Amino acid sequence: MITLSDISVSYDGSRILRGVNLSVPEKGLICLMGRNGVGKTTTLKAIMGLVRTDGGSVRLGSTDLTGMRPEERSRCGVGFVPQGRDIFPNLTVWENLKLSLVLHGPHGTDEVDRVFELFPVLKEMLARKGGVLSGGQQQQLAIGRALLTHPRVLLLDEPTEGIQPNIIDQIGDALIKIKQEGKISILLVEQYLDFCLNVGDGFYIMERGTIVASGPISRLNDENVRKLLTV
Ligand SMILES: Nc1ncnc2c1ncn2[C@@H]1O[C@H](COP(=O)(O)OP(=O)(O)OP(=O)(O)O)[C@@H](O)[C@H]1O
Ligand SMILES: [Mg+2]
Repeated sequence: MITLSDISVSYDGSRILRGVNLSVPEKGLICLMGRNGVGKTTTLKAIMGLVRTDGGSVRLGSTDLTGMRPEERSRCGVGFVPQGRDIFPNLTVWENLKLSLVLHGPHGTDEVDRVFELFPVLKEMLARKGGVLSGGQQQQLAIGRALLTHPRVLLLDEPTEGIQPNIIDQIGDALIKIKQEGKISILLVEQYLDFCLNVGDGFYIMERGTIVASGPISRLNDENVRKLLTV
């Protein structure tokens, strides 16, 4: 579904991504893992078109996204939930969701209902300001909002970061349901190993801007793979 070939990115002249190759199969949930600062977020930004690439290509199915602006990539079906969530704190939950509906064309109410089914708490809090929700609730809102943009691929940047365990479980369950529906592929950036083992089909591990290991999710249990993730 999504394929990165030889993607390189530099910030201020220093190379951050060095020829990243990675693919997410249709209906798959792939985890991109690695220690802090290795380039995981930059990889998602490269897919979304939020950083300039020095070389390489990004494809979504048969569409070449390379060179497209972020909003064009979004219209092609790339949904992005950034690290730190990035919801609008002064808009209500409903207004946050409605923005996706306004920007991405009309939807059947079933799509909105589906979001409430995955994250019931959002329905209870429609009139609350986004900024007063807990971190976990904001994460659910951010994922719900991305789901309303008709994504074919959903990019999630550390959705469990700083979130309490019971909400992590709810988010995990939602990702598994989305995966089982088979309409959306997911690329999950994550450092929480047990979460990846629970929801993932496959993994890539990054070190200093390049992929150093990959395989089916069960291989994350191998000691030599885990060594790449521990500080
Ligand atoms: N806008 C920027 N300008 C300059 N350097 C940057 C910028 N954004 C990130 N970097 C650097 O690029 C490297 C990779 O950053 P990135 O955010 O992609 O890492 P990450 O794997 O997502 O880390 P974390 O796990 O902490 O979120 C880091 O060394 C970081 O300091
Ligand atoms: Mg990051």
